[in-house]
Amino acid sequence: MTASIFILTGAGISAESGVATFRDAGGLWSKVKLEDVATPEGFLRDPAAVHAFYNARRANLREVEPNAAHYALARLQRDYEGEVTLVTQNIDDLHERAGSRSVIHMHGELSLSLCAHCGARAKAESDLSLTLSCAACGTASSLRPDVVWFGEMPYRMNEIYDRLMDADLFVSIGTSGAVYPAAGFVAEARTAGIRSLELNLEPSDGTFLFDEARHGPASKLVPAFVEAALAS
Ligand code: NAD
Ligand code: APR
Repeated sequence: MTASIFILTGAGISAESGVATFRDAGGLWSKVKLEDVATPEGFLRDPAAVHAFYNARRANLREVEPNAAHYALARLQRDYEGEVTLVTQNIDDLHERAGSRSVIHMHGELSLSLCAHCGARAKAESDLSLTLSCAACGTASSLRPDVVWFGEMPYRMNEIYDRLMDADLFVSIGTSGAVYPAAGFVAEARTAGIRSLELNLEPSDGTFLFDEARHGPASKLVPAFVEAALAS
């Protein structure tokens, strides 16, 4: 029976595509206070500033392309005989644009708006703002980015934990291991006796918990990992 693989990606997998990470030198949280743009309180205080922050990140996405790491994971999903679960903390669409068909965005998606009144999601064709009304319920000024903020629960966690517990191998790519619950997946894997591998530019907060850790750029480490998995 071919081993099943559970993959978690973070901002580091998109870094070489030109998408800013959060906690590296020069990362997003060194430029804006996450309390202001990544918490419900921040959105209540100044929704226009939060919309501007995510509108700028949405515009940046139109300038960047997937990199070799995204394409390698799409190839793994396509050609590997066993089950591959791809969970990302990222809100960009680079996995999908590289050809990944099934991506679980536990922190939401930059490309979607969410109506705070009726919960309807819609494609955010262009900038979101307070001037827009929800197409589903008609409520004015009710749209927010469909992004999970600090203090909010990530999406599809029951499904994520079920899939993690069913895996034979847990691979963490490009994440600092600073934010829970994603940062806790490696400890869950260890407790369940699931092998774990970290592929990251440098040791993360949880490196010591992994059975194996390889450090370097994702654009090099991930294609090599996929090549070996397909040859096994
Ligand atoms: P956490 O406590 O793991 O936070 C990690 C770091 O984020 C903290 O060390 C702190 O520096 C900062 N932080 C967290 N909450 C903050 C807040 N309210 N104000 C200022 N700084 C804060 O993260 P968490 O708060 O336990 O996360 C809770 C939920 O939020 C989790 O479910 C997580 O998935 C989600 N989340 C979403 C995002 C996002 O932007 N999509 C970011 C982080 C967390
Ligand atoms: N290749 C591999 N790893 C890289 C690369 C690269 N080219 N560049 C950076 N990294 C690594 C860094 O070493 C760091 O450990 O990616 C990680 C990025 O960490 P963060 O910036 O903290 O991003 P992430 O772990 O995804 O943050 C988790 O926090 O603020 C929230 O919602 C946000 O989902 C995000 C969550």
